[in-house]
Amino acid sequence: MTILLLGSGGREHALAWKMLQSPLCTQLLVAPGNAGTAQIATNLSINPTDFKAVKNAVLEHRVNMVVVGPEDPLVAGIVDFFQSDEQLQNIPVIGPSAYGAQLEGSKEFAKEFMVRHQIPTAAYQSFHADTVEQGCRFLETLTPPYVLKADGLAAGKGVLIMHDLEEAQNELRQMLVHAKFGQASSKVVIEEFLDGIELSCFVLTDGKNYQLLPTAKDYKRIGEGDTGLNTGGMGAISPVPFADAAFMQKVEQQIVIPTVNGLYAEKINYKGFIFIGLINVDGNPKVIEYNVRMGDPETEVVIPRLENDLVALFQAIAEQKLNEISIHTNPQTAATVVVVSGGYPEDYQKGKEITGFDKVEDSMVFHAGTKEQNGQILSNGGRVLAVTSFGDSIQEAIKKSYQNIAKLHFDTMYFRKDIGLDLLI
Ligand code: AMP
Ligand code: GLY
Repeated sequence: MTILLLGSGGREHALAWKMLQSPLCTQLLVAPGNAGTAQIATNLSINPTDFKAVKNAVLEHRVNMVVVGPEDPLVAGIVDFFQSDEQLQNIPVIGPSAYGAQLEGSKEFAKEFMVRHQIPTAAYQSFHADTVEQGCRFLETLTPPYVLKADGLAAGKGVLIMHDLEEAQNELRQMLVHAKFGQASSKVVIEEFLDGIELSCFVLTDGKNYQLLPTAKDYKRIGEGDTGLNTGGMGAISPVPFADAAFMQKVEQQIVIPTVNGLYAEKINYKGFIFIGLINVDGNPKVIEYNVRMGDPETEVVIPRLENDLVALFQAIAEQKLNEISIHTNPQTAATVVVVSGGYPEDYQKGKEITGFDKVEDSMVFHAGTKEQNGQILSNGGRVLAVTSFGDSIQEAIKKSYQNIAKLHFDTMYFRKDIGLDLLI
């Protein structure tokens, strides 16, 4: 079948690489893709939120399935667009409806969903411009640190954690009254601070049945020792050593099953990935956030460990037969290190030539912000490459990634040298 994958990051390169291993996939189109996807599939220069352009491409190339990488097209309603179009309604789209995508698109929606289904999460209250002063009074009742979350999508920047009450009250006013994050902060969720170590849990659901994918730990801060600004992710490790069988049993019973049953009971059209951001508070999992897609760079470690045919899994999702499949996982550890442009996540330069790909041995180099120009591969974004390796231990996997990164070069390149180290203690 012909599959159209939407997106352009390392996540999409890894998904494309995996789907191409399936005998079910005879042609793969990626829109818009990057230089890495161009080497293995056909890139289409289409913006994934331009649904009319997506429709034209689907009809022109006789696409049989659409896989959505990022959240934006899902939150904007691509699944609903396909289902309400006579020419598209029989083509499965892997992802939730716009209503279901609010699990990521609205923090308040996600919190209310968790409360309705008794899913463990931080206690919270939400406020809007009219209730900003109540919000300030509510902050006075809490003990620091204070956690403020813009309700809507804010490109990963909408969560503020502060130690000072006055600063928190000031930020709350900035968000609600002065639109610090635009429309995304017209509502703000204030929640209890949870102290613990984070991990990501990935679920595939057909709206009724589910399968668990491997866990991963992401490294979000730009600086070593988890310092500096938040980024899209600087590296990832899978599996997560502290997510042992007893902990995962709690995750499945207390979080995954109530989530999938909640979607089903509320008749939410959801056929795709659920990415649950968890925090381990004294051995008990609590939900930090839901995302309605795979994580990036988590995909670059989770998907290589998956031994199943990914297209067969997507087909089972479309046919609501996910219960007929069991997941097989490579027991080795996968580690990925993200190589970024210097200055990221603030200003950075693009268009730097990347060399050394041919010298890489025993690692996979997934492209993120790259483009091909006159036979050269150039940097074209903040996150540029994700270098993934396998090993019998975190040390072995991570060492291979660092050895291969040493062979890659572009002007201004930067990467964290401590990915996975915290998990060794
Ligand atoms: P989110 O966008 O909801 O994933 O939040 C971004 C980051 O803020 C998370 O990865 C956590 O590190 C942190 N965070 C969010 N909510 C809380 C909380 N209630 N307690 C502690 N840390 C939090
Ligand atoms: N790595 C975090 C995310 O994809 O949201």
